[in-house]
Amino acid sequence: MNIILIGFMCTGKDAVGIRLAQKLGMKFINTDDMIVKKEKKSIPSIFAEHGEKYFRDVESGVLDTLSGQSNTVVSTGGGIVLMNENTEKLKNLGKVILLKASPEVINSRIYNIEDRPLLNIVDELERILKITQLLDNRSMMYTNASDVEIDTSDMSIDQVVENIIEAIK
Ligand code: S3P
Repeated sequence: MNIILIGFMCTGKDAVGIRLAQKLGMKFINTDDMIVKKEKKSIPSIFAEHGEKYFRDVESGVLDTLSGQSNTVVSTGGGIVLMNENTEKLKNLGKVILLKASPEVINSRIYNIEDRPLLNIVDELERILKITQLLDNRSMMYTNASDVEIDTSDMSIDQVVENIIEAIK
């Protein structure tokens, strides 16, 4: 079985995914890393040079290449649910866990805004507003694509890992 982590940027998909994979003796992969490797460009460069639509097409193509995977924790890019067809692909791949967090917590967890083209907004209040808008637009898609939802706002990485293990028992 695979475990697929979806959710907005900075909800902990990578940190949780790496620890979950270690704990369960599973492999870990990240779809953004696969895109960067395939395109030989950083995510911000792909957005700047080709636009978001192009990025989404590459992201969806990368998801297709995962269909043979097993015993893997897959951390996905926060916008992977934006393409309708990806919902089915994610579900076919394994158990889909949605990680959530409040806009304020998401904002506080952003390490470098330049790494995240959609949140590269210098003014903090404007950035929180943008996060809120994107979350509102996506919330239904996240819920539709997931089997389990976990709010990580007040949890440590280990607590989220334990919650996932409990949920998939
Ligand atoms: C995006 C999330 C990013 C990355 C890209 C777009 C999004 O991944 O795929 O910047 O639209 O939410 P992370 O969720 O890993 O930051």
